[in-house]
Amino acid sequence: MAAAVECVGVSKAFREAPEEREPSADRRRGALSWLVAPAIPKRVKVEAVHDVSFDVGRGEIFGILGRNGSGKSTLVRLIATLLTPDSGTIKVFGKDVVADQIKVRKMINRVSVEAAFFKRLSASENLEYAAGLYDLEPREARARARDILSRLDFPARKMNSSLENLSRGMQQKVAVARALLTSPMALLLDEPTTGLDPVSKREVQDFVLEVRATHDTTVILTTHDMQEAERLCDRIAVIDGGRFVALDTPHGLRARGIARGAGEGAGEGLGVTGEELPSLEQVFFALTGTQTDDWLREGGE
Ligand SMILES: Nc1ncnc2c1ncn2[C@@H]1O[C@H](COP(=O)(O)OP(=O)(O)OP(=O)(O)O)[C@@H](O)[C@H]1O
Ligand SMILES: [Mg+2]
Repeated sequence: MAAAVECVGVSKAFREAPEEREPSADRRRGALSWLVAPAIPKRVKVEAVHDVSFDVGRGEIFGILGRNGSGKSTLVRLIATLLTPDSGTIKVFGKDVVADQIKVRKMINRVSVEAAFFKRLSASENLEYAAGLYDLEPREARARARDILSRLDFPARKMNSSLENLSRGMQQKVAVARALLTSPMALLLDEPTTGLDPVSKREVQDFVLEVRATHDTTVILTTHDMQEAERLCDRIAVIDGGRFVALDTPHGLRARGIARGAGEGAGEGLGVTGEELPSLEQVFFALTGTQTDDWLREGGE
């Protein structure tokens, strides 16, 4: 059967705005500076995602780990049809994100930290609006939203406050509730638990596992929480500078610290000895260059 999500050779670059010129430079050139055409600073090209290929199976929870600015959100936005790849193809349940954008959008829901809401409207108004977009029966949608929000410990009395007056964590809970109003075929979760307290974080993780178990939903998840990645993900890709540097099961990633050069002293570079596997965090440090064990990377020796 075709993969739920299939990315082949996907790249996306941005031209970043040049840095602001120091005003003092103009001042130094004196009063006639307007006569001199200012040099136009070059925009810097940032390869946010570079030649990334992977498949996600139906019902799989696929994690993407990487440092700030490594390309996770860009990749999620490409799959969500919010950005267009410069090269490569992305298919969601066999539909191309560029050619079949509308069909793809119908199959996915997305949660992100910079969730787009009507900030002046309340949580209930925003959720009602979303329910309308999903063609949900309003009463059913209201009940479902209330159920999710109460499980996330969202205070009922805040249901009618405008979102701009809610804390960041509360807004995040509304974003999660919105994405879970329906059970989409694919759920794209870009840091769904960032900013949540440990109890609510657990609850969101349980929701994700529940949606997968009951609806066979395919999930792509980014996170900075190694425990969360290990608890939820069937497989994890580590992205660094826009490139995938490893892709394996959580156990497979951790076992790399031992498997390579197995035997006496294996894993020592990670500060691990004997039979003990390195933690995912230790492997993450090694893979993202915060430690010098380059051999852990895909294809490295
Ligand atoms: N719209 C944009 N215009 C210009 N550059 C962008 C744009 N979006 C992302 N970038 C750049 O692309 C790179 C990857 O950014 P991205 O947001 O994908 O990182 P990330 O892995 O999600 O980081 P974080 O963990 O901080 O969320 C960064 O260098 C970022 O500055
Ligand atoms: Mg991001």
